[in-house]
Parts: sequence; structure tokens; C-alpha cells
Amino acid sequence: MKKLVIEGGRELSGTINISGAKNSVVALIPASILTKGKCVIHNVPAISDVDALMDIMKFLGSDIKYENETLYIDNKNVENKNIPDKYASKLRASYYFMGSLLGVYGKVNIASPGGCVIGSRPIDFHLKSFEKMGAKVKEVDNSFNITSNGLKATEVFFDFPSVGATINVMIAAVRAKGVTRILNAAREPEIENIANFLISMGAHIKGAGSGTIEIEGVNTLGDGEITVIPDRIEAGTYVIIGALLGKKLKIKGVISEHIDSLLYKLKEMGVSFKINGDTIVISKCKSFKPVNIKTTVYPGFPTDLGQPMSTLLTQCSGECVFEETIYENRLRHIPYLNAMGANINALDKKAVVFGPSQLRGRKVKATDLRAGASMLVAGMIAKGNTTVTNVEHLLRGYERIVDKLNDVGGNIKLLDE
Ligand code: EPU
Repeated sequence: MKKLVIEGGRELSGTINISGAKNSVVALIPASILTKGKCVIHNVPAISDVDALMDIMKFLGSDIKYENETLYIDNKNVENKNIPDKYASKLRASYYFMGSLLGVYGKVNIASPGGCVIGSRPIDFHLKSFEKMGAKVKEVDNSFNITSNGLKATEVFFDFPSVGATINVMIAAVRAKGVTRILNAAREPEIENIANFLISMGAHIKGAGSGTIEIEGVNTLGDGEITVIPDRIEAGTYVIIGALLGKKLKIKGVISEHIDSLLYKLKEMGVSFKINGDTIVISKCKSFKPVNIKTTVYPGFPTDLGQPMSTLLTQCSGECVFEETIYENRLRHIPYLNAMGANINALDKKAVVFGPSQLRGRKVKATDLRAGASMLVAGMIAKGNTTVTNVEHLLRGYERIVDKLNDVGGNIKLLDE
């Protein structure tokens, strides 16, 4: 187990470069299975979720190499094997192998996905859609056994615009017979990135990034190439840190429209920043006005930024209401913020934050990935030193986070527990 020891109160200046998006690359790698050709994926972050997916790819017979932020994939020797728990449970995104293996082989057997414990996280939309495409789904001993005589196109309407289900059905439909329509599809930017990768292989997809996606099945696919879009959650996390500790801190390699929901909130709080092309320049704000935050689907305020944002809310002068609407358990970090001196009343998915509070260094825990980001931000603004345990969660999603922050003036140590 690893922990971070963070010295609070250090001013940050210089440039932080944003890496490729975790939630894009974790679908791009399994999607590559659709072709026996060669794939190149650029701007791949060195995070442990990528390592876990490379292990699954190698297990299936892929020749996959990671060099200079680029993945080179040759799937000509891939076979459809049962993916056991020791691989699938390492991360949430292992479920994308359902869509890709089902698409190519008409069947798949894979253990349940893992991922952060932030709610019940069912995958019923994925499974019901595969069934509508003609597959039979059996859940036996914590594994999904999905079989078909080849997938058929269909129309699906999601009760909720699920990111994972949209991507999984889009991947599966690429090789299905006929035209599949996904209605009430998720519109997160990662979806368009994945569609563009599939299109580069020869898939026929229209409307990715909108609420209706149309996929016309094709029989074969060729080589594929894509650049992973910048990670909007990583960018947003550093922008939040910049608003608290920056001295003309530059966050570079950002598509600013992807974090408009955050940037507009920061303006409402009185934070000033400049956007120069792909760079956001931000300095510490002296006094934050209170705001309310309600997480929702894109282009609304992202659930993945809710936890780091809640740390910033502790510095507002007055009362802020924070509401999480996507997951049941994304407020598990609040008791740790309170232990550090915050004044937050949390009930279910809602929290009222009274500020400003001077946070003090304590020993706290990263209960999940974005909770880890919240604790890191808290440690960086606290008086004294903060120890954050269980930071494997954090390292799963943020590339070289300790180096990136130390390079701009932070003092953070990554140590064995
Ligand atoms: N849902 C269902 N049934 C389904 C699928 C989803 O009820 O079949 C519900 C979920 O329980 C949840 C909501 O729909 O309440 C949204 O879930 P969604 O499917 O959109 O989330 P996901 O695909 O499991 C991805 C990211 C998450 C991110 C969400 C929302 C990956 C691997 N994970 O999860 O990322 O929070 O979209 O943007 O892409 C993170 O990075 O910290 C993270 C958790």
C-alpha cells in the first residue's frame, strides 16, 4: 500500500501538462479487439488502469507495446478466452471487452468488472442491449456468459444516458448486421473520441457526442489510429488546485469547452483566470463567493470533479450546497474533510458546506479515486502535513500526479505504507 505525505500551503507556479483521458483510453484499448489489423493509440497516460488493460490484452494473445505515450497493438493472434476475475476485477472498464469480443466472436465470458466503490453500479443497460441484439446473457459464479449466433442491429433507449452502456453498445454494434440506433445516448466527449477510433478502422458511425448515435454494421475492419483527448477531469482537478494555490499556474493541453461547467462556476465564485488557446492560467483567489454544485451528465458539472470541488467549497465565505446525482456513495470523503477542520453536514447524496474553514493536516484515507483527489487538494491547502493513505486509487487515474505537482512547487512524497 502507498501513502502521500503532503506539505500544505505551498504556492504553485510553472506549467502542468495534461495527459490523455483515462475514461477514453480505457475504452479504446478493448475496442481495438474489433480488428485483426494494427492499431496505434497516441497520448496514452501511464496509469495503472492502462497496465491492467494491457495485461488483459496480452492474456487474449495481443501483441501490445507501450512506448513514449503511444500504444502499438497487433491483434492478429487474439483468441476469445474466458477472462477470469483476477483480470476483470482490477478495473471497471474491463466490461468493454463484452462489447468487443461479442462483436467479433458472437460470445464472451468475463468475470464481473471492478472499479471504485461509489454506488451499486449495475450494468443492466449493457446486458439488456446485448439481449436486444440477439444475445443470451447468463450470470454464473460472478461471471457473465453471453452468447449469440452473431449480433443483429437494434434500437435501444437508455433510461439514463450511461457512458459505459453507450460505449459498449456502440462497440458491439460496429460488427452487428444492420443499423443500430442508441437513443438517449451519453454525450461525454470521450464517446466521440472512441467513435473516431472505430471510424478510423472502417466503422460507420454517425452522431457520437449527441443524444442519438447510429451505427451501421460492417463485416471487416482495418488498421486504426487515434489520439486520446486531454483528460478533462485531470485538467479540472489542477484548475481547482490553481484557484487555491496558483501564482500564474499554467495548465496546458486543455480543451477548455470540456470543463465549461467548472470554469463558469469558478467565475461565479470570483476566481479569475485566462484561457490562451489550450492553456489556462490561474492564480490563487483571495476570497471565494459561495456557490451551489449539482453534479450531472455532460455538459453539466461532472460527478468525477464533484469530490475535488467539495474541498474548494470549504474555502467559500458562506454556505454552499453540494449535490451528487449520479452515484449513491460519492460523499465518503466528507468525514475526512471534517476531520481536517471543514464544517460540512452531509446526508445521503447532499452536503451543506459552511466556510471558510482553515484545514489542518491529518491522517486521512483515499476511499476511491476522486476522493483521493479531494484529499490531495485538502492536504495541499491545509496547515501542516497531511498523510493520505490508500493512494493506489489516486494513481489509477492521474498520471505522474506527484511529479507534476512537485515540478510546480509542491512538496509531496509518495511512500510505502
Ligand atoms: N447505470 C445503470 N445501469 C447501467 C449503467 C449505468 O443503472 O447499466 C447507472 C449507474 O449506476 C450510475 C449512472 O447510471 O448511477 C451513470 O453510470 P455510467 O454508466 O454513466 O458510468 P460508468 O460508465 O460506470 C463512467 C466512468 C466514471 C464516470 C461515469 C460518469 C469509466 C470507466 N468510468 O462510468 O468514471 O463517473 O462514467 O461520467 O469510464 C472516475 O473516473 O472516477 C469514474 C468513476
